Amino acid sequence: MDPRKKNNLGENLPSKNDHKGKTTEIKTGAGAPVGNNQDTLTAGKRGPAMLQDVWFLEKMAHFDREVIPERRMHAKGSGAFGEFTVTHDITKYTKASIFSEIGKKTQMFARFSTVAGERGAADAERDIRGFALKFYTDEGNWDMVGNNTPVFFFRDPMKFIDLNHAIKRDPRTNMRSPNTNWDFWTSLPEALLQVTIVMSDRGIPSSYRFMHGFSSHAYSFINANNERTWVKFHFRSNQGIQNFTDQEAEMIIAGDRESHQRDLYEAIEKKKYPKWTMYVQLMTEEQARNMQTNPFDLTKMWPKKDFPLIEVGEFVLNKNPDNYFQDVEQAAFAPSNVVPGISFSPDRMLQGRLFSYGDAHRYRLGVNHHQIPVNSPKGVENPHAFHRDGQMRVDGNLGSELHYEPNSYGNWTESERDYEPKQDGGHVYRYDFREDDHDYYTQPGMLFRAMTKEQKQVLCENTARNMADATLQIKHRHINNCYQADKEYGEGVAKALNINIEDVDLNLPKRDSKENNYKANNAHPEL
Ligand code: HEM
Repeated sequence: MDPRKKNNLGENLPSKNDHKGKTTEIKTGAGAPVGNNQDTLTAGKRGPAMLQDVWFLEKMAHFDREVIPERRMHAKGSGAFGEFTVTHDITKYTKASIFSEIGKKTQMFARFSTVAGERGAADAERDIRGFALKFYTDEGNWDMVGNNTPVFFFRDPMKFIDLNHAIKRDPRTNMRSPNTNWDFWTSLPEALLQVTIVMSDRGIPSSYRFMHGFSSHAYSFINANNERTWVKFHFRSNQGIQNFTDQEAEMIIAGDRESHQRDLYEAIEKKKYPKWTMYVQLMTEEQARNMQTNPFDLTKMWPKKDFPLIEVGEFVLNKNPDNYFQDVEQAAFAPSNVVPGISFSPDRMLQGRLFSYGDAHRYRLGVNHHQIPVNSPKGVENPHAFHRDGQMRVDGNLGSELHYEPNSYGNWTESERDYEPKQDGGHVYRYDFREDDHDYYTQPGMLFRAMTKEQKQVLCENTARNMADATLQIKHRHINNCYQADKEYGEGVAKALNINIEDVDLNLPKRDSKENNYKANNAHPEL
């Protein structure tokens, strides 16, 4: 239902009541009432405007900044909120909590888009359609940022910038150029499958409701036993597929440049909620090894006869955003937003994207874009990233919480849920430096022993002054570290700190593994 008031002819009125149902006076950004919103303050009846008209200045200055950069691609789009429901069990393949049980529901947001046109472009253009889904899972947001095509023009992210230059406006004429577009496409033979799809009858969906969506890339599923399966996601429209011919599209655009936006918005207002069924294609690591073609080549599909679609669930879009700018324009989807149980693959295009989106968001929306409601992880209690400060930090900025790790207080530790197996055949892993090197003390000991008696004393006294205000536990830890390097070093620091070395536990576990590190940090919680 459109929440706006209607006039006596039944037409929607721009409402004064949209703000929490209350009619209120106009106020400045600082909250003071505005007495006159019609006439600028002037020096005399026919005189010039005054700099002192601060309300006019504020109003104009805000307006001057209302526009934010549009997305570099996919600038024109439509969005809606909805819900995902699991219908089939795939817990054998993934521990992702969104799929943990049949019937589980997860709130979500979707944005569909065209690619090449700017923010004001017509919808019914021949182009790929973006198919971006944000699932607010209880282990963080999972963004599935796909297209309505299962493949892409090329397989190396280095070419993405050239693609966009070729399909966007010519730098001299400021017009789109079929010549540069086709020059680029035809120079890349690997683009032919994607070009064929875009030029086919599916090249102009009649609206966003009547198209399928694809992750296109392979991702990883990781199960509770930490085993990996490669996966591609498919979303098939329950509305079916409907397309426009070029001629139909021309007619549509002549009368309505917002045909996709209108169709999605009105369908949801009329409660004709669009639905898509989610499927996955799965490939074992062994199958991947034995594939003749590279399974991580984005210009190729995985044949359905070898890797059939497996049904997983469905999503429905059932709520229009109340404010387009807030929720759709400011939405930030990033393929890097994955959750435990879903991870990446060696697809180089995907790797390029893992950097590009967050980078674009920091430019387009700012470093704290995670706090914009549509982007914030709604399913998670108390999200915490140790991120601090930055422009437009408005969520309390973690108050007085510690903002480093490791710390001696057990605050905010890593999660075992996020562990990943090594990538098959590759060397990609978070290798622990400590596995190679347990020797932290030899060189500090050598340096200490190379010092004169006076230098040793200065070292110990400097240390004592510097850490005077640290807790006893931290002092003990440092004495122990020094003692491991050289007995005399430990004793010297203890003495300078006025601590009896006998009181220090000199058998504290060494910091040679993550587990011991944690134990060492918490060895003397009473101190
Ligand atoms: C939007 C980069 C390939 C789907 C964007 C944006 C960037 C980008 C910078 C704008 C982000 C923003 O401002 O919010 C890249 C790069 C690619 C690539 C560097 C390849 C190396 C792809 C592929 C797909 C895709 C292969 C689909 C499988 C999308 C979608 C959006 C988007 C759906 C719009 C997201 C939204 O609705 O906000 N891309 N892209 N992109 N891209 Fe890509």
